[in-house]
Amino acid sequence: LVDETEVEVFSVPSYACQRRTTLDNHNNVLAHALSLLAENAELEDEDGRGVAFRRAAAVLKALPKPVTSMMQLRGLPCLGDHCLRVIKDILETGTSSEVEATKQSERYKALKVLTGIFGVGAKTAARWIRDGIHTLQQLRDSGHTLNRAQQAGLEHYEDLHQQVTKAEADTIGEIVERAVVSVLPGAQVVLTGGFRRGKLTGHDVDFLITHPVEGREEGLMPKVVSWLESQGFLLYQKTTRNSYLESNDGPARPASNIDRFERCLSIFKLIKEDKHETKQLGKLSENGLETPEDTCSSLTHVQTDPNPATPSCAKGQIHSGEDTGHRLWRAVRVDLVVSPISQFAFALLGWTGSKLFERELRRWAGYEKAMSLSSHALYDNNQSRYLRATSEEEIFAHLGLEYIPPSERNA
Ligand code: CTP
Ligand code: MN
Ligand code: MN
Ligand code: MN
Repeated sequence: LVDETEVEVFSVPSYACQRRTTLDNHNNVLAHALSLLAENAELEDEDGRGVAFRRAAAVLKALPKPVTSMMQLRGLPCLGDHCLRVIKDILETGTSSEVEATKQSERYKALKVLTGIFGVGAKTAARWIRDGIHTLQQLRDSGHTLNRAQQAGLEHYEDLHQQVTKAEADTIGEIVERAVVSVLPGAQVVLTGGFRRGKLTGHDVDFLITHPVEGREEGLMPKVVSWLESQGFLLYQKTTRNSYLESNDGPARPASNIDRFERCLSIFKLIKEDKHETKQLGKLSENGLETPEDTCSSLTHVQTDPNPATPSCAKGQIHSGEDTGHRLWRAVRVDLVVSPISQFAFALLGWTGSKLFERELRRWAGYEKAMSLSSHALYDNNQSRYLRATSEEEIFAHLGLEYIPPSERNA
């Protein structure tokens, strides 16, 4: 029998942006179970339910100790009956029957496989499933017309499902930096997304690009993309131009939460670092990349390749990667965003994530402060004016929130 007076009842603030959420947490099993239900809801295109589960998972991630008793959860925010039932199930039996059933369900599996293709969303996947398509092979055989993104997604499916390491992210960062300063000296590149929050792996790599002089960043993206393309670094790209200024959305918050920066969703062709080769040849340039004349593993060897999808090895005979069947490059998803310096702090905050943290910041701003926050600006509806900021710290201060560093935004 548990003496209720000895049970430590947890308490956390309601909004994830009021809490510090590190990558490690004390309730991984519970948080993971609720995240799976969130994922399933999102796959079913039920975003409202998805957010509810995400919020509940985030509350569990923020608790100071492992949950051992339902009584500890009394009064915690965001835990509805459904979530409490799942938690109780896991505390009592070790697993949740609902989570296990979801994982086993053919529909969940098919939705996951199909939306796992870059360029395929929940609606498209549901349509294909109605047509009897549950697997990649069935999709290939179906003769369905795929758009350019989906074709690339299918072609690079396996690579894009390999986690990107921090080392790979840094290598890509060096390439992006070279591209950016080549076309606009003085321009700056910042790593955002999960890697900025301290994650060791990611599903993609996110970069924000700006220039210290307002306006100099205009037209930058097409030039960067051309440079990358000419060097053979891009397997796929789709650039969307800045539509913030010409859009008529009014204050800060666009009609949808999608921001309007010039952005590029891309798939990079990343030459794999070959450890033993590097050692054997023993020649590294000061930026840590192999020098082109020594090995085709260098980042520049693709320059001479007319077809970036099938890298040839001019001097590649030193190693036999292609012969033994392992490719010497891999595909990596990369997101590039260009922001004018006046909006940089908002863009940085907006692109660092996590997605739930961002959503909670906007909810806090709207409901608690009568402000509209976007990745472009912060508008104060009480004062009817924009609040300027040149750092993330200033934005948190405007919002009346304690500053939370990126490593603690892993809600
Ligand atoms: N983002 C956005 N608009 C999009 C896509 C993403 O504003 N159309 C923002 C998200 O809100 C998030 C950041 O970009 O803050 C990074 O998103 P994403 O790369 O999807 O997630 P990560 O947190 O980086 O996690 P992962 O390691 O899976 O990439
Ligand atoms: Mn990312
Ligand atoms: Mn991304
Ligand atoms: Mn080679």
